[in-house]
Parts: sequence; structure tokens; C-alpha cells
Amino acid sequence: MQSFFMPSKTEKYGRICLQLEQLLVKSNDPLARMASINAILYHKMQNFFWVGFYLLNQDRLIVGPYQGPVACMELAKNKGVCWHSVNTQETVIVPNVNKFPGHIACDSRSKSEIAVPLFNAKGQIAGVMDIDSNKPDFFDRTDADFLEKIVKLIY
Ligand code: SME
Repeated sequence: MQSFFMPSKTEKYGRICLQLEQLLVKSNDPLARMASINAILYHKMQNFFWVGFYLLNQDRLIVGPYQGPVACMELAKNKGVCWHSVNTQETVIVPNVNKFPGHIACDSRSKSEIAVPLFNAKGQIAGVMDIDSNKPDFFDRTDADFLEKIVKLIY
């Protein structure tokens, strides 16, 4: 049972979505929207250790706006979680980063991860939203559903 002081994940995302809808109308700039999404998720969701975007530039995946510890600036082609999400155009949930083949460790404190594909206004793949948690097995289908909605607010 959830108490008044312990909102469920769904309740937290519900509040965040409302806040984002009000905030993001203030600018249609995708980078400004990504930066604002990062700030809200990083500060409102417990155990979100790193929240950010990797953006496709030609055939390179380069770090965009993020919150959290310093991360890899560019990801080796077709390796790791973010490239897997870009290549499959699917959300990838990784319960244990050490067990994901080719996982790129930007910080050893990261234990689990979710990567959500980002599409531009033409519906083309533009990069990924990537979130790391300092707790193992932290992300589930609830995160995937809400984060897929949230990335649709960018373009
Ligand atoms: N772990 C990611 C790299 C990005 S960092 O987690 C911020 C990957 O394997 O693609």
C-alpha cells in the first residue's frame, strides 16, 4: 500500500508529466526542452543517477544535454545500450549493466539503465534519452511507458 508520503512511481511520473506540459510550451527549441526534462527528472526521481541525451550526428552518437556526473562524450559505434536502442528503435531496459554485452560504462556507480529512442518531427531516429540508476534492476515497463511519452514532447 502506498502512503501519502510515498507516492508510487506512476503518481510521480503523473506529476512530472503535468509539470513538463506546462513548462515546455515556453520554448519549442528541442535542446531547451531536453535540458528542462533532464533537470526535472534528475531532481524529482530518486535514484536517477544520470539523465541525458545522446544525439545522432551522421553516424556518430554524441552527448547532448545531461544532468549527473561527467559522461562519455561520444559512444563507440554500434556498441552498448544507447546504440542498441538507436539501431532497434526500441526502448531498452537493462536490469544489470554488467550483464549487457558491450555496455559502455561511463561511471562505475551506474548499476541499471534505460534507453528510449528519440524521433524528430519527421519521425526519423534522432538519438536516445538515456537514464542510469545507482540501484540494480531499477527500471520497468512503467518507466518505459512514461519516458516514451516524455520524449514525444521534445519535437
Ligand atoms: N551506458 C551507455 C553509455 C552512456 S552512459 O550510461 C551515460 C551505453 O552503454 O550506451
